[in-house]
Amino acid sequence: MTDLAALANHQIRLAARPNGLPTRNDWNFTTEPVAPPVDGGIVVKVLSLSLDPAMRGWMNEGKSYIPPVGIGEVMRASGVAKVIASATPAFSVGDLVSCGPGVQEYAALAPNDLQRGGVFKIDLAAGSVTQWLNVLGMPGMTGYFGLLDVGQPQPGQTVVVSGAAGAVGQTVGQLARIKGCRAVGIAGGPEKCAWVVDELGFDACIDYKTGDVKAGLKQHCPQGVDVYFDNVGGDILEAVLTRLARKARIVICGAISQYNNTTPVQGPANYLSLLVNRARMEGMVVFDYADRYPIAVKELAGYLKDGRMKSKEDVVVGLETFPESLLKLFSGANFGKLVLEVAGA
Ligand SMILES: NC(=O)c1ccc[n+]([C@@H]2O[C@H](COP(=O)([O-])OP(=O)(O)OC[C@H]3O[C@@H](n4cnc5c(N)ncnc54)[C@H](OP(=O)(O)O)[C@@H]3O)[C@@H](O)[C@H]2O)c1
Repeated sequence: MTDLAALANHQIRLAARPNGLPTRNDWNFTTEPVAPPVDGGIVVKVLSLSLDPAMRGWMNEGKSYIPPVGIGEVMRASGVAKVIASATPAFSVGDLVSCGPGVQEYAALAPNDLQRGGVFKIDLAAGSVTQWLNVLGMPGMTGYFGLLDVGQPQPGQTVVVSGAAGAVGQTVGQLARIKGCRAVGIAGGPEKCAWVVDELGFDACIDYKTGDVKAGLKQHCPQGVDVYFDNVGGDILEAVLTRLARKARIVICGAISQYNNTTPVQGPANYLSLLVNRARMEGMVVFDYADRYPIAVKELAGYLKDGRMKSKEDVVVGLETFPESLLKLFSGANFGKLVLEVAGA
């Protein structure tokens, strides 16, 4: 049994709302004792945290699909953790769980947190800790339901995904191939594009940093784009809109090119392409599919096991690196799902 009183919990709290890219001054580093679990709750030791582009949005004031993180609060984050104290029969000391512990070393999870289904045991036979934050975690669920439910790809159709070498993008393109579609990625740089084609089996990948996206789409999508899974927004969304097939579906998953704007979000000037092509554009939020996660996890774990799906995680180490590590997402310095390792298992 861990002696909780002997532990110090290092935390990272939101200190200010950033203007543009977050800086170190937007964070406070605090240390607190670790209290025993409340009746019906657990205390966990955080092993790895998921660093997500959405974190940037949670730092902003204003209405969204989830309330902003308050000034002074521990930064919100999901992760994988180990139960070190339990006051409920539902969890035992030593269980590995997927949960939302925040950016800190230890977290007390109350009965409320446990009841909402936000905490569940993970099985390392299905995937590693980092894969549970990637293909089997929130990004994988996003790719699965965004592509299949919203994108509704049909065999033989062409699926284009931006952010193709990232967490969501890698699942989307590989799943599109598994479902019998052509998969065309858009990613930044030759190394990422080569990996997407050579390792993940996409049919093609367009390097938006060095190439002309419109020309690439014309070359690789001669029949047009049936499904565009948009992770980035901005100029790339506009370029794909010029190449839609009739009845195309655009999945608005994210718009990372816009998250640090200090000017209004750039919308596509050519949205009437939707009209011309009888196409539709639809936003999706992964949390809406929470009750169906187990179905997706089972299917994706099967693909990981039989080798039809690969995963890549980019692991950075140390809670204190969080402010700089998060920025990797916005420069494209991450290669694969960005994971912050807080402690060894
Ligand atoms: N709707 C939902 O429920 C939901 C859930 C999860 C994630 N998302 C969204 O899905 C998207 C991908 O998230 P992720 O976790 O998979 O991140 P990720 O793709 O692993 O990492 C972010 C990547 O975005 C690319 N990027 C950064 N700035 C860019 C820019 N200005 N233009 C084009 N690409 C840029 C970079 O790749 P390159 O090197 O290729 O540029 C970077 O590696 C994000 O927009 C996120 O907000 C939405």
